[in-house]
Amino acid sequence: MVAKTLTPIEYKAIHEFLESQAGIRLGAGKEYLVVSRLGRLLPTFGLSGYSELVAKLAEFGGTRLQTAVVDAMTTNETFWFRDMAHFRILIDGVLAESKPSRLRVWSAAASTGQEAYTTAICLQDAMQNGRVARTLNYEIIGTDISPTALQEAQGASYCGVAAGRGLSDDQRRRYFKEQGGCIEVLPQYRKGISFRVFNLLKPFDGLGKFDVVFCRNVLIYFSQERKRDIVSRIARSLSPGGHLFLGSTESMSGHEDLFEMRNLAGGLVYRVRT
Ligand SMILES: C[S@@+](CC[C@H](N)C(=O)[O-])C[C@H]1O[C@@H](n2cnc3c(N)ncnc32)[C@H](O)[C@@H]1O
Repeated sequence: MVAKTLTPIEYKAIHEFLESQAGIRLGAGKEYLVVSRLGRLLPTFGLSGYSELVAKLAEFGGTRLQTAVVDAMTTNETFWFRDMAHFRILIDGVLAESKPSRLRVWSAAASTGQEAYTTAICLQDAMQNGRVARTLNYEIIGTDISPTALQEAQGASYCGVAAGRGLSDDQRRRYFKEQGGCIEVLPQYRKGISFRVFNLLKPFDGLGKFDVVFCRNVLIYFSQERKRDIVSRIARSLSPGGHLFLGSTESMSGHEDLFEMRNLAGGLVYRVRT
């Protein structure tokens, strides 16, 4: 039985916890979201209600409960070939111009992995038809704060809505093995990809330098200050001439000192200024 009531003080405390831990801002009137996502955690953690949950969240240290609350409150919406123009810009714009022999890509809010696998599929197709070097040595690192989403990413197996969203019948046949309504990414498109839990609020130092960063549909959850901080740290994590893709509804306004907006292969991408 899911606890249905949440006082304004409890809502505020949960909101502040999420903002400080993950940068995620719920905004006003999202009590229903908290109840639907956290209600099921109460019995799992033997908690009597939201007041006890809030008290435990305030305890020092990265407890299992804190991780579970952040995990449950993330919105992992994603789909195959999302904003396909970005992948066309990557292949026919960025890579056609730079002709690299090595490429490091970061899918910085990878969710359940569709963005990372879509990148690999597009790179492999481009390698096969000679639009990029056939010997291109690429590495794709997918990170996300949600361990549950990343578990699905690592499994590379998708059922239900995730098995169809964004895919044509032809793409399903070419890039996946189908089994009883579920799909599994073919091994050649899993090659070179790894996933790890990572919070964008933490320093990026351990990740190394990237040539391309996809940071799509996550900055919308953050405050202007956090967005500015993350965008400037992404700029530092890019190799000279590196490119950043933001979600199609996200903009770089206010960060023109860090990135130059480019119109390439009929779409927009940001190149780090050096
Ligand atoms: C809407 S999904 C976007 C997925 C994918 N980039 C796309 O555009 O389809 C947003 C993702 O950001 C992740 N996220 C939220 N806050 C984060 C943080 N502080 N650090 C890392 N990932 C975070 C969520 O877990 C979620 O999977």
